[in-house]
Amino acid sequence: MPSRRRLKTTSNLICFSLLLLLLTPHLSLSTSDEESDEIDELIAIDDEEEAQSRSSPSSEARVLSKAQRIVVELNNDNTKKIIRQNEFVLLMGYTPWCPRSAELMPQFAQAANLLTELGSPISMAKLDCERYPRMASLLDIKGYPTLLLFTNGTSQPYTGGFTAEDIVIWARKKIGEPVVRLSSVAEADAFANKYSVFVLGLFDEFKGPLYEEFVRAAIANDEFQFVETNSHEVAKLLIREIKPTKPFLGLVKSEPERYTMFEEPFEMDKILQFLEENKFPLVTTLSELNSLKVHASQIKFQLYVFAESDKVKPLLAPLQEVAKKFKSKILFIYVDITDDNLAKPLLTLLGLEESKDTVVAAFDNKISSKYLLESEPTPSKIEAFCSGLLRGTLPTYFKSQAVPDNENATVLTVVGKTFDELVLRSSRNILLEVHTPWCMSCETTSKQVEKLAKHFKGLGNLVFARIDASANEHPKLQVDDYPALLFYSGADKSNPIKLSTKSSLKELAAFIKKNVKAEEHAAKDEL
Ligand SMILES: *[C@@H]1O[C@H](CO)[C@@H](O)[C@H](O)[C@H]1NC(C)=O
Ligand SMILES: *[C@@H]1O[C@H](CO)[C@@H](O)[C@H](O)[C@H]1NC(C)=O
Repeated sequence: MPSRRRLKTTSNLICFSLLLLLLTPHLSLSTSDEESDEIDELIAIDDEEEAQSRSSPSSEARVLSKAQRIVVELNNDNTKKIIRQNEFVLLMGYTPWCPRSAELMPQFAQAANLLTELGSPISMAKLDCERYPRMASLLDIKGYPTLLLFTNGTSQPYTGGFTAEDIVIWARKKIGEPVVRLSSVAEADAFANKYSVFVLGLFDEFKGPLYEEFVRAAIANDEFQFVETNSHEVAKLLIREIKPTKPFLGLVKSEPERYTMFEEPFEMDKILQFLEENKFPLVTTLSELNSLKVHASQIKFQLYVFAESDKVKPLLAPLQEVAKKFKSKILFIYVDITDDNLAKPLLTLLGLEESKDTVVAAFDNKISSKYLLESEPTPSKIEAFCSGLLRGTLPTYFKSQAVPDNENATVLTVVGKTFDELVLRSSRNILLEVHTPWCMSCETTSKQVEKLAKHFKGLGNLVFARIDASANEHPKLQVDDYPALLFYSGADKSNPIKLSTKSSLKELAAFIKKNVKAEEHAAKDEL
């Protein structure tokens, strides 16, 4: 029996190895000698834990282990043969240490199981690219995990989603099984038990131009399982509220909204657009699995709620009600604020990466503008925020630090919120230093500006200022290189002069003297 201390020190490995064992049941037989001692030890620990926690294996575990056997393990010897001998092979290239591979593997195995149940001719196989790098490069696998579908030996890249259901749907479409036909209530029942999201078509007969548009859409769409029936009774089982009109097309989802009816003419493009606009749930919870799909959405506006899962629970139902009112115009997304991988990059865009409180923000895909709800995030405030978003009346949000106290400062600190007031609307000449905390030569320039500020102290129409561009933004402040020195003439704030930060102190002083003087003259001339 392993000691407590050993359990503790190997706990990371156990977690990792449990995954490995689940994914590759023959691991202990095929590892190299150096590793096998360690692995044996981990298996022993695993067995013990398993005996304690899983005296009767759950049905899910049984399904998975059965599915594991359906996925063929590839190696240097069998890969080419298997690809050559099977009409359809869906292959997953993975490495055991890659977290994304580990996430996808159970889904892949589950997909293999579903496909077998459906009697699909697709063979499923996996290649450990770490152990067989030569084979991986031969198949042109560069990232992990990579999915490829081989049809008679020719591969095409995978473009579907990352759940078992997504994989099944995509693969069946690619091999020419785009639509499932349901002929009886029993079949429909079995189908409804397996699929919670699908597109239902009800037709008098499975031919004619409208039906053909439906099938074309089924082939062109990568994401949804299409089902067809000519029985109103069967359709009613899948969509209880269905009207007895034929043809009928509806999108069914597993959420309060349940289904959306297609009300346009039966044309492939219109069907595809309908699916694109309605494919997400009323409120989508962002995850590693769906983030690509969410970010690629063609819906122009995206509303994000960043919150702890406890805090979002009471908000979810009312949020779905709000989402209904903005369907196909605004995508509602919930992000767990404690999930650094998902939340941090988005919150950084808002300068709110340290926030612990609920944040509600919106992004505009097309012009990449951002908006922040700056009041309490109640459902009614969120609804008003969304209305403003659609009408274009929300003020664009820019990152800004808190407004600092500039009293007695030789060099003023400007932030996003005060850029208008202190730089653009001021009638004085401004020399603005734009810096970031990470830029190498910013400190040198800061010191120069400090010296210049002291030198020109007392000149009433000249102000020295600086702004940290990493934490502050303004649409009129467009700087790519840091540090930057910008001279805003009091007479014309729209065309700042960019000074070289390589200039000597003397050159800078001369420039300032010349321009500030010139302006005084110009002002006098006007009088
Ligand atoms: C694969 O090859 C076989 C044998 O040549 C052929 O009958 C079959 O139609 C091919 N499959 C596809 C999808 O092209
Ligand atoms: C600014 O200077 C005045 C006069 O010297 C002084 O009374 C005041 O405390 C200073 N304020 C700050 C914030 O340092």
